[in-house]
Amino acid sequence: MRRYIVAGNWKMHTTLTEATDLATGLRERISGYSDIERVLIPPYPWILPVRDAIAGTDIHIGAQNCYTEPSGAFTGEVSAEMLSAHCSYIIVGHSERRHTIGETNDLIASKVSAVLRAGPRVILCVGETLEEREAGRAERVVSEQVKSALAGRSEQDLDRVVIAYEPVWAIGTGVAASAADAQEMCAFVRSLVDDLFSNYVAGSLRVQYGGSVKGSNSEELLSQPDIDGALVGGASLDADEFAAIVRSASAQVN
Ligand code: 13P
Repeated sequence: MRRYIVAGNWKMHTTLTEATDLATGLRERISGYSDIERVLIPPYPWILPVRDAIAGTDIHIGAQNCYTEPSGAFTGEVSAEMLSAHCSYIIVGHSERRHTIGETNDLIASKVSAVLRAGPRVILCVGETLEEREAGRAERVVSEQVKSALAGRSEQDLDRVVIAYEPVWAIGTGVAASAADAQEMCAFVRSLVDDLFSNYVAGSLRVQYGGSVKGSNSEELLSQPDIDGALVGGASLDADEFAAIVRSASAQVN
């Protein structure tokens, strides 16, 4: 049985006070849900204060990005090794980094290698744009993203990878993919991993859906057979909303 994973990507939001208040509110609301893996992914400077606010719970901390190299003259970058002191997960390949910052599949593959080398787990984000979907290219784009990031890895590496299917057109728009479309693409991601590795690896892989997940749609999305969690943006900044999503995940297993 795959363990659900609900992660909140805070992106470049929150002041220090907002971040610690949010973490404290989440501590009260979600620390009891140990059946679900819960991950808070604040901006880099708030990692330590958020970690302190949830100390003593089994809520994990993650990071939103990392650099490829372990250390060196790379002004402004942060390595996976540095993050590994506090973070159990590192997001790689988020659509905002692919499309706003211009990260390529090759760079993203190097970052996956960096995270695996350093020790944390990877949340690898994949997903097509609206234009690609309308042109009937969604599967081809997602397939290239998954293959370029994962081909040639070991089966043990895959134990430490979660894939988040986040269609770009659903991110921050308030309009999530339908449960049927999300299920179809998450199943497709799993089938790619089956082709690249094995039935066993594909069956163990956790695939999250991301894109306008909120308390009101999480139950339907998380009840799909190939959706093992959510990567939540906007709704993760509201403790009640994020807690509702965690409860929806918990309802699937209880
Ligand atoms: P929203 O939940 O705000 O659509 O963002 C999704 C996302 O990008 C999470 O990584």
